[in-house]
Parts: sequence; structure tokens; C-alpha cells
Amino acid sequence: MVDLSVDIAGLKLKNPIMPASGTFSEELAEVFDLDRLGAHVTKTITRGWRDGNPTPRVCEVNGSMLNSIGIPSKGVGAFLEKVVPFYRHYETPLVVSISGNTADEFATLCSEVSVDGVAAIEVNISCPNIEEDGKAFAIRPSSTYDVMCKLRAATKLPLWAKLTPNTGETPEVARAAEEGGADALVVANTILSMAIDIHSRRPKLGNLMGGLSGPSIKPIALRMAYQCARATRIPVIGCGGISTVEDVIEFLIAGASAVQVGTATFIHPTAMVSIIEGLESWLAAEGLSSVRDLIGTVIDGEQNEAVVFMEAAP
Ligand code: FUM
Repeated sequence: MVDLSVDIAGLKLKNPIMPASGTFSEELAEVFDLDRLGAHVTKTITRGWRDGNPTPRVCEVNGSMLNSIGIPSKGVGAFLEKVVPFYRHYETPLVVSISGNTADEFATLCSEVSVDGVAAIEVNISCPNIEEDGKAFAIRPSSTYDVMCKLRAATKLPLWAKLTPNTGETPEVARAAEEGGADALVVANTILSMAIDIHSRRPKLGNLMGGLSGPSIKPIALRMAYQCARATRIPVIGCGGISTVEDVIEFLIAGASAVQVGTATFIHPTAMVSIIEGLESWLAAEGLSSVRDLIGTVIDGEQNEAVVFMEAAP
């Protein structure tokens, strides 16, 4: 028997595989047993109603996906009434993803969703689709720190900060999130991108720009996960183009303690289940009794020695 369980800042997950926010919903219960997953992560919600962005909201680019959904939301009332009760039927921890226009609004929502049945809150401080030119709190260390402090004060639940690849300051932003009170980092959201139809000369997305996800961004997300794991003492949850067992293994070796699978589910709705089964088989074949033995075991190229990660805070 291989032990697939991991610990994300005190939250025990039966395995390290969970969906990326926005790529998972209650309908998947018709396709597989949702209790197979390590955690459930909901689509980001906002406090009030949001229409979302103009259509078209998605397009395919070179085997990956561009989206500018714009966080359509029915608001927190509908979420607490309909969505949270649905997940109470499962033993798998529920992670609720939230967003806000201002730090104060964000913090109010954070407190409102801190209810029975919610195990952790993923704070989406990185959506590229709600402000002009993809601006988000997580682009800068200072705005990351400020919003995380307010969110920290608003809840006792674990806070997972979802970071952005649209910054040149990844380790600094990761440290700012940790110092502001994040318990874990989700690394990372989509990459601000664009596609144009050469015949109409129009952007392929109604909102002109959008976030790139899928296999083409995996090396970037992997690099970021490694940087964040080295820069902080809190667990990193890898996210970005993960679609195979080998991708998961790469992220774990790079220092991630768990991973989120996103775009792959749109292609194969049972992708996460196949990955969990494949991971267990791979570990058994390697003679490893626990998936935790893999985490942060990357070897430095020149010195041929294990890279040293910071110990978790006591
Ligand atoms: O546009 C969206 O709803 C996407 C959200 C995100 O990438 O965080």
C-alpha cells in the first residue's frame, strides 16, 4: 500500500490531487465519485452578482486554452445556500475560492464564507480578467501583503493565496503572502495572453486579453513552484498545465506538496482520477511507500546534491 496523503498547513488530504478553481463543478459528480479527490476547489465567487466578461470567453491556442470568463458570480448568498450544502455530502475537504475588488470587500467575503463545511479559503489575488491589463493584487509584494493582512484578520480558516505568473517578482510576492498570513500558496494562475483572428483582425476573446492555461504553461508554473517553495516555509500547491502523472511527479520533486489539475479536465473529465491511480502505481513501482518522500527532492545540476528547502515554521 502506498500512502498518498499530504498535509497542507494542518489540513490532511487523502491524496495530493485537486481541481484548479474554475475547472470543476458539482456536475462532475455524474462522472466520478468526488470523494476520490484530495480536495474540492470551487470556482471563484464574489460578494455580489457579477455578469462576467463579454463573449467569446474561451478559445484554443496551440493545444492550450485562453480564457477571459471574468468571474461571473451569483454572489455569496446563493453560494452559501446552494453550493456549500452540496459539498457537505462529501468527506473531502472543501476549499472555497474568493475574490474582491477592494481589500475590504475581499475581507468581508472571506469572513462570510468562513462557515461550517468550508475547510480552507483560496484567495484569488491573481485573476488576470477583472481589471484592465490583467492587474491583480499579487502582481506586487506590497499589495499582496496589504490584502493578505486584511484577509488574515477576517478568518481563522487556512488561507491559500493563489499567485500570478504575471509578475517579475515571484519570490518577493510569495514571501509577502507568507508574511501577510497565508498558510499555503497556489502557484499559479493563468498567464496574461492574447490571440487574434487574422481574417477579421479581431481578438479572439471578447475582452481582448485573457489567461493562458494548459500544457504550454507547465514549465513556467513549475519554475514558479520551485521558486516559491525555496522562498517560503509554507506549502506550495502547484498549478499550471498539469495533465499527466509525470507532470505531478515533476511538481512534487520541485517542492510542491500537492497539485491542482485544471484544463486537462476539460479534455478528459476523469483526468484527476487517472492521475491519482497512476501516481499510486508509479510510487509502488519506484518502491516508495509515501508520496511525501518525493516532495522537494530535486537535485542540483552542478553539485549533484539535494536542493535545500526551508523547514516548515514550527
Ligand atoms: O476570468 C475568470 O473567471 C478567471 C479567473 C481566474 O483565472 O482566476
